Amino acid sequence: MIVNSVNNISYPYNAPSFKNFCVKQCTPEYSFLTKTEFFRQDVCWNRFIDLLNMKYKNADKVNIVCHACSDGEEAYSLALKLITDFGEKAEKFFPIIARDINHDNICLAKAGEFAVSDIELDRIDTYSEGNFSKFFNSIGHYIKAKDILKDKIIFEQGDILTDVEQFGAENTVIMCRNILPNMPPAMRKELAEKLSKYIAPSSLVVFGEWDICDKLVYKYMAENGFIMSNLRGIYYKSENKYKPANLIREMYLYLSKKN
Ligand SMILES: C[S@@+](CC[C@H](N)C(=O)[O-])C[C@H]1O[C@@H](n2cnc3c(N)ncnc32)[C@H](O)[C@@H]1O
Repeated sequence: MIVNSVNNISYPYNAPSFKNFCVKQCTPEYSFLTKTEFFRQDVCWNRFIDLLNMKYKNADKVNIVCHACSDGEEAYSLALKLITDFGEKAEKFFPIIARDINHDNICLAKAGEFAVSDIELDRIDTYSEGNFSKFFNSIGHYIKAKDILKDKIIFEQGDILTDVEQFGAENTVIMCRNILPNMPPAMRKELAEKLSKYIAPSSLVVFGEWDICDKLVYKYMAENGFIMSNLRGIYYKSENKYKPANLIREMYLYLSKKN
């Protein structure tokens, strides 16, 4: 048996975990995969919600921008988790502003109908604490979001490179996950510079598994005054009082005092 060497095969980033029916979009400048999934596992969902709870405990309003949201499953996941964990107190996080550069993605997101895998159904069950039918109608592997979720999200088409200039309000959480490595370096640098210029120190930036594996993203964020916390994918401005080594410790101290 002849076994060929695989030394010449290279990937631009580490092990993406997309569904196998990803759509690849290409423009003259760059290409990227559009697909996402419910409760994609490069977010530590429980810890992320704990962090929002702690960091914004005194805020009356928290602005969540879910950019590059693809077909919307990420925004629906977050809305479901916030409602499940906080009940009526989740209102200060709504509406989630969810945008994507691709018009078709936004149409899919607004429709709120998805073909999902067994694993996603399982995760939705888990994160909704068994209340799947509160949030979705389902026919087998096709699910349709109910108004309790749809009413919490505004889906719009937008380009993060220009939209970032509008994200200056205090207490803004900017999710822009798994797009950066597919942008040309100049665009990644521009985004890091604009995030630094426009967002408030009280805000957070949430990246995905592809972004945090990318050395250039790390470099550009560091050069622009951002610190990567030890909570996976979460960056904040260096003037923030939570230092990288103690962000999780702060969170647990806060939670243990609360309980
Ligand atoms: C790989 S998907 C990421 C989806 C989701 N955020 C996640 O992490 O699973 C990348 C998405 O970025 C969108 N995108 C690419 N460039 C963008 C830009 N400049 N502004 C907003 N969205 C963009 C694409 O249309 C695509 O839906």
